Parts: sequence; structure tokens; C-alpha cells
Amino acid sequence: MVLRDKKIVLGVTGAIAAYKALELTRLLVKAEATVWPVMTRSAREFITPLSLSTLARNPVHDNLFELAEGTRISHIDLADKADLVIVAPATANIIGKIASGIADDLLTTVLSATIAPVLIAPSMNCHMWENKIVRGNCEKLKSLGYHFVGPASGELACGYEGKGRLSPVDEIMEAAEEALSVKDLKGEKVLVSAGPTREAIDPVRFVSNASSGRMGYAIARAARRRGAEVVLVSGPSYLPRPANIEFVQVVSAEEMNDACVRYFPQSTLVIMSAAIADYRPTKSYPAKVKKDAKTLSIEMERTTDVLKSMGKLKKNGQILVGFALETENMEENARKKRDEKNLDLVVANTPAGLDSPTNQVTIIDREGETETLPPLDKDEIAERILDAVVRMRGE
Ligand code: CTP
Repeated sequence: MVLRDKKIVLGVTGAIAAYKALELTRLLVKAEATVWPVMTRSAREFITPLSLSTLARNPVHDNLFELAEGTRISHIDLADKADLVIVAPATANIIGKIASGIADDLLTTVLSATIAPVLIAPSMNCHMWENKIVRGNCEKLKSLGYHFVGPASGELACGYEGKGRLSPVDEIMEAAEEALSVKDLKGEKVLVSAGPTREAIDPVRFVSNASSGRMGYAIARAARRRGAEVVLVSGPSYLPRPANIEFVQVVSAEEMNDACVRYFPQSTLVIMSAAIADYRPTKSYPAKVKKDAKTLSIEMERTTDVLKSMGKLKKNGQILVGFALETENMEENARKKRDEKNLDLVVANTPAGLDSPTNQVTIIDREGETETLPPLDKDEIAERILDAVVRMRGE
């Protein structure tokens, strides 16, 4: 969503990971960004301009002396129209050139001339990455406001094992979104809970629900992009752990409660999207229950309502956001939960959003202001919930 309609100059330099720039281009285009690829001469040794321009749906630029649209000087034209410049993969050579202000080809000239944010995704041998000159160049660029993503550790094409792999493309996408996001949550310490909980019946069985964790993970990532420090407390989920976020894995409602209680005092904003079990078996059998009996009854007891206890402890300045999952009288029940749990915002929804990438929600604030959103991707809903929080901070 952040990348939609954004204009991105993608600089590709001569590293073996150049082939991953093709996948990155595909994802950027899929996210509805406009991509102008710029290749260095060395990059052409690894991938062809034809592949890159086909995926980008734009011609590859590599000539410093060509004119854009008939009369404009191409490096100034590209530098001016970019909302973001990404260099992926970025070799030690290009990092050195940017850090030294060298502008001797189209890409380095665009990088010198642009006032857009620049995101660098390094890729090189681990000894090159550790080289003091390279380290110094990266530190210098970071202090000047250049954004970096990676490199990751693992097997390197040169046969070494270590730090130097180009970051996975989804992490580069995430970093691109972060570089483009307004930092309106800077200074906030955000606690997000996500996913289902599992309440054990015996060592192999449990009571749980269909929550995937998508909503909470999307909120955690969006808050991070917008400058917050984020802790994500997650029940069992198959989603990948988001980067640059403190991650706390829990299983049961009790563990969820313990983790939230631990992080609550230092949090300025809490968003409880987890589908926490309301009941758990009164006892968990130590051994697997055999199917000897004809029927089996499991007695259940109430778990702690984590959100409600946080509502009681809430201090001035802390914002508490809860969800309300309803099958009937959605708005009325959601308002009731808002009041009973002392919430600042409640996000009302139906089970249609469970285990789905999209949902339809209604956001209700403490004054009763009600915003019914159309069916949207959960990433977009996350942004809209955070927009409502930012509006509330401004009041
Ligand atoms: N919640 C919680 N602790 C629980 C159960 C729910 O903190 N043991 C939180 C959820 O994370 C959500 C909010 O309370 O933000 C509302 O959850 P929901 O399942 O809609 O409602 P309940 O409060 O459990 O009430 P009911 O099941 O009766 O509708």
C-alpha cells in the first residue's frame, strides 16, 4: 500500500545477487510502484537489460549521456522524479563511490543528484563486508541518512559462509516501505498481541481458534514503519517473524497474559488483536487421552481477560486499542466492550476476517466517532487503525 503509485529508481550493480533484482522488480510492480531500472556496466555481466526492462515495464537506463523525453538530461530527470532510489544489490564498489561522492556513470550521478531517500541493500563476500574501509563507508552513509537493509548471513556464492548475502526480497520491500513512511509514531512504544492461543487438553491436543495472526503482524509492521519501537506478542502462527521488532512467542492464554503484563507498563500504545481463549480445560491430562470411553466431557474454566486488566491499570497518556469479534449486534456489542474494558478505540469485526488476508472493520473511538471501512487488505486496515491513533494523539 505504501508503495502504490510511488516512483522508484532501482539501481542494479555487478554482484551475483543481481538476479534477485528481477524478483524485487516484479514485487515492486505488483505493489503498483513505477520502476525505472538503472544498470551499471558490471550488472550487465550478470543479468540482461531485457529481463529487467520486461519485468519493470520500463526501459533500462545505463547511458549517462542520453536525453530523457527528447531534451531532459537523463540523470537529472531520474533523480528528480524518484520518490525513492533503491540500490540492490549494492557492491562494495558502489557503496564506496556513494560515500566518496563519485559520480562517473548514470547510477552514481543519479545518486548524487537525487534528494529522494536512498535505500542500499549490500551484497558481497563476508571479508569485503568486514573490511574496515567498507565498514567506514557504511557508517558514514548511515550517519548521513542513507537507509540500509542487510546484508543477511548464510552461504555466499563465493563458497564462504558469513555475512554478505543480499537480504531476502520481502525484507527489501519492507525496508522500502519504511524508507517512504511518515514517522508519525516516532517515540511511541507499541505492544501488539496477535494470533490464537492454544489451551492444552493433553500432550497432543488443544483448544484453539482460526486466527492466523495476520492482523496483528500487519499492525506491528506498520507501527514499526511509522517509527515506533514495537514488541509483538504472538500465539502460534505460521507467519514469518517481522524484522526489527521484538518478538515474544507464547502458546497459552496464561503465557499471553504474562507477556502482556510484563510489557504493559513501558508501553505508550497497546493494540490487542490476539484471539485469546476465554476458557481453558480445568486440567490438562499428563498422558494422551485414550479413546476408551464412549463420550468425553472437558470441563473448562475462565482465563484472564488481558485487555480488561490492562484497562484497569491504564495511565494517562497510554492508548489502549481492542478488537471486538461479533456475530450479532456488532457495533452495539463493540461499544459495550469499549466501555467495560476502558478502551480508547475498538475495532469491530465479524468472523469473516478470520484466517483471511482481508477484513471489513468498523473503528469506534471513545467519543463514539464511528468509521466503517470497506473490505480491505489487512495491511491497509493496520494503517487506518494507526491513523485513528495518530488523530487521537493530536486531539
Ligand atoms: N481479550 C483479552 N483476553 C481474553 C479474551 C479477549 O485480552 N481472555 C481481548 C482480545 O484481544 C480483543 C478483545 O479482548 O482485543 C475482545 O475480544 P473478543 O473475543 O471480541 O471478546 P471477549 O472479550 O472475549 O468477549 P465475548 O467472547 O464474550 O464476546
